[in-house]
Amino acid sequence: MADVRSPTLPGDPQSAEAPPSPTHVTTRREDYRAPDWLVPEIALDFSLDLERTRVRAILSVERNGDHDRPLKLDGDGLALLKVKLDGADAAARQDGEQLVIDIAGDRATVETEVEISPAANTQLMGLYASGGMLCTQCEAEGFRRITFFPDRPDVLSRYRVRMEGDAARFPVLLSNGNRVATGEAADGRHWAEWEDPFPKPCYLFALVAGDLQANSDRFTTASGREVELNIYVRAADLPKTAHAMHSLKQAMAWDEQVYGREYDLDLFNIVAVSDFNMGAMENKGLNVFNTAYVLADQDTATDGDFDNIARVVAHEYFHNWSGNRVTCRDWFQLSLKEGFTVFRDQGFSADIGSAAVKRIEDVRVLRAAQFPEDSGPLAHAVRPDSYLEISNFYTATVYNKGAELIRMFHTLLGPEKFRAGTDLYFDRHDGEAATCDDFVAALEDASGVDLSRFKIWYSQAGTPHVRAHISHDADAKAALLHLSQHLAPTPGQAVKQVMPIPLRTALIDRHSGEQIGDERLIVLDEAEQAFRFDGVGSAPMLSINRGFSAPILLDVARGPGELERLAQADGDPFARYEAIQELMMRALVAGAQANAVDADTVVEAIAATLADDRIDAAFKAEAILAPSEALIADRLDVVVPDAVHRARDALRAAVGARLSDAMLAAHRQEGGAGNDLSPEAKGIRRLRSVALGYFAAGDATAGAALAKAQFDGADNMTDRQGALGLLVSLDGPERVQALDAFYLRFREDPLVLDKWFGLQAMAQRAETVDEVLKLAEHPDFTISNPNRLRALAGSFAANHWAFHSPDGRGYAFLADMILAADKLNPQTAARLVPPLGRWRRFEPHRSKLMRAQLERVAGTSGLSKDVYEQASKSLV
Ligand code: TRP
Ligand code: ZN
Repeated sequence: MADVRSPTLPGDPQSAEAPPSPTHVTTRREDYRAPDWLVPEIALDFSLDLERTRVRAILSVERNGDHDRPLKLDGDGLALLKVKLDGADAAARQDGEQLVIDIAGDRATVETEVEISPAANTQLMGLYASGGMLCTQCEAEGFRRITFFPDRPDVLSRYRVRMEGDAARFPVLLSNGNRVATGEAADGRHWAEWEDPFPKPCYLFALVAGDLQANSDRFTTASGREVELNIYVRAADLPKTAHAMHSLKQAMAWDEQVYGREYDLDLFNIVAVSDFNMGAMENKGLNVFNTAYVLADQDTATDGDFDNIARVVAHEYFHNWSGNRVTCRDWFQLSLKEGFTVFRDQGFSADIGSAAVKRIEDVRVLRAAQFPEDSGPLAHAVRPDSYLEISNFYTATVYNKGAELIRMFHTLLGPEKFRAGTDLYFDRHDGEAATCDDFVAALEDASGVDLSRFKIWYSQAGTPHVRAHISHDADAKAALLHLSQHLAPTPGQAVKQVMPIPLRTALIDRHSGEQIGDERLIVLDEAEQAFRFDGVGSAPMLSINRGFSAPILLDVARGPGELERLAQADGDPFARYEAIQELMMRALVAGAQANAVDADTVVEAIAATLADDRIDAAFKAEAILAPSEALIADRLDVVVPDAVHRARDALRAAVGARLSDAMLAAHRQEGGAGNDLSPEAKGIRRLRSVALGYFAAGDATAGAALAKAQFDGADNMTDRQGALGLLVSLDGPERVQALDAFYLRFREDPLVLDKWFGLQAMAQRAETVDEVLKLAEHPDFTISNPNRLRALAGSFAANHWAFHSPDGRGYAFLADMILAADKLNPQTAARLVPPLGRWRRFEPHRSKLMRAQLERVAGTSGLSKDVYEQASKSLV
C-alpha cells in the first residue's frame, strides 16, 4: 500500500480535556472514591400523570466506612416537596442540585417527595412521555431526574416499586422484577407493585405505564425455570413483533450454550418506545427498546433491519449477566459491560448467520466509526481518564474497540481458557460493581496466561500502524517477516508506548496459491521485530492480521500481482476480502490524486470473484462493494471530497460498464424470495442489489429502468429500499415517481418514513444539500424525535460528498440542527458534532468553513455540557 496518512499531522491536539469552563466540572477516573453511604433498600411510590407525577422515595441508608461526612443525594430538575429523616422533618440543605443531609448514626431512613413533569421532559432522560405512554431511561445519570439518590453505579439496592395511575390511559403498569400486587383505586385509577429480588444500581431502574399489548411466549431454561416473555407494543404493532420474540429465545439459548448463563427471573419484558435516545436499554427484567430495534415485517423492514433487531435484542439480553449481575464500579469502566457485551452479540450474530460475513461487517463498522474517532480530536481510551458529560462516552471506541480488545483476549487464550475466565469473572463478581482490571484478573487467574502487557489497550488511545514485509533466504529455505509498529500522539497522550499486537499470520505459495504450513499467532510486542518461518522454498506471499485479529492499520509491502493473487487464493475469508478491498483502495487513492482511475486489476478481481462458485453470494457482495468515500478520505493526507467522489464514481462506472453482463446475471439470480429470511436468501438479495448498483453506475438509463422495475415489483422492503436507494441518486422521472409512491404508501409508518428521509439525505447528487434543507421544512420532519433527526441530519452528515459541499451550506445546516436540538435533547444533539470535528483532514477552504461552524456552535451561550464538551474539544 503506497499511500497512507502521515503518522503525525502538524499541530496535533495535545490536550484531552475540554477547555476550562466555569459551569461544567470535569470528572476524573483517578478521583474515584468508594461511596460514603450505601442504600441497601429503596421503596418508590409513583403517582403517575403525564403533566405532574409525584415520586415518593424511602431510602434505607447505611454509613460506608469510618467517616463523618453527610449523605449527599443527586438530583436534576426535581421540585422538592418534602424530606424526612427517620420520620421527622429533616434539616436538609440543597447544594447546587444535590440534597445534603447530616445523619448522626450509621443507619437511617430518608424519605423524600418530589414532583416532575414527564410531558415537559424533552431530553428523554428520566421519566418521560412518548406517544401517550410513560417510560424511563436512567443510564447513565437519568435516575436523579426521577428522585434524589446517590446516582452512581456502585450503589446497589433492592427495589420495591408502587405505581398508581389512570386505568384507561395506563392499563399496563410495569417495573423491574416481579409483579407482587395489583388493585383498583378511586377515580378510575389502578395500581401495581413490583419487587426486584436482585440488588441493582439505579441506572437499571425502569418503569413503563401505557396502553400496550403484549406478544407473549415462554422459555424454559436449561435448569428448568419457566420464564414468561412479553414484548409490549401499541396494539397496531403486534404483528411486527414475531422476529424480536424469535431472536430473544435464540439469544437465551445461545447464552446458555456458549457462556453457561441462564436467565434468573420468572419474567422478561421488552417495551418498544418511539422516542428514544439510543438503540435500547438493558433495565433488569424490563428492557426498553427503540421501536426501530423491535418492529419488523417483510413489507416494512430490510434484511439489515431484521439482523439489527436480532443483534440488539441479544445485546440487551446478554447484559443481564455482563452489566446487570456484574455491573460497573464507575462510568470509566463502561467498556467492562459494553465492550464485552458487543463481543458477545457479535458471537451470537456470527453463529446464527454467516461468521465470515459478520466479521467483515463488524470491521466495516469499526473502520467507519471508530478509526476516525481514534485519529481525531475526540480520541479517547477504551477506559477514558476524564469526562465532562458521560453520555459523550457511549462511543464506538468504548463499544466496538472495546469488543476488539475482548476478541484479542479470546484469540490469545483460545475458546476453552477464555470461557474458564468468563466463568470465573461471573462467579467471582456476581452481585458486585467491578472494574476492567477485575475482568482481566479473572481471565489471567483462570487461564494462567499473563495479560498484564495487554492492558495497555485499555488506556492508550489511537490506532496502531503496523508495517510488514517479507524477505526470503533461498539457501536456508526460510522466510523472515519484518514488522514494525507506530502510534501517533492523541489528545492528552503525547508519548505512546509499544503495544502487544496479536497477528494471525500465514504464508502462501506464490505459484500454487496453497498455504505453507500452519497459520501462526504472532505477537508483535516491540517497536521492530522479525519472525522466522522455516521450510519455505520460494519467496512467499504474506497473509497477515487474518480475521482482523488486531484493530490496527496495516501497510504490507507487496510484489506486483500479489494482491490480485491473494484476492482469489487466500484461505482466510477475511484476508481474501481485504485483498480485494485493498486492490480497490489502491486504485481509488491513486485516482483521487491523479484524477484518473486505472480500473483494470479491479475489474479482473471482481470478475473472478463473481465467477467463483466456492464462495457464497453474501461474501461476494461484501467483497466487491467499493470502499466508501469516507474510508478513501481516511487514506489521504489532505482530503478533496470532489476528487474522492469522482474517483469512486469512475471506478464503479468502469466496473459496471465492463462487467455489465456479469452484473445483470448476478442481479437476476434466483433464490431471494421475499419471505425467505435464511442467510442464503439474504445473501442473494444483497448481491442482487450490489450488482444492480454497479450496473446502473455503468449505464444510468438502463439502470434506472431496472431499478424502477425492481421497486415497483418488490414484495419486500430489502428489494424496495435497495432500488430506491439507487433511484434517489439518479436524475430522471423515476426518482420522483418512486419517492412519491413510497411516501404515499408508508407515510403513516414512522420507521419507514425515517427511511424516506434518510435515503434522500444519502443521495449522491449535486442537489442533495438543497433537498435536505427542504426536507427540514417538511411537515413530517420533527427535531424532537431522535430517530427522525438522525434520519435526516445524521444520514446527511455521513454523505461525504454532499455534506462537504464546497459552499459550506452542509456544515451550516448541521450546526443549525445541533443548536436547535440542543435546546431539547442535548444528548442526541451532541452526537451530531463529530463530523464537523474532522476539519483538520480537509483542504484549507473547507477546513476553515467547518471550523467556523464549530466555533459558532461552541460560542453559543446556554449550551448544554454535552454539546459544549464535543464542540470545544473538537476545536483544540
Ligand atoms: N446501555 C445501553 C446499551 O448499550 C445504552 C443506552 C441506552 C444508553 N440508552 C442510553 C446510554 C442513554 C446512554 C444514554 O445497551
Ligand atoms: Zn450495551
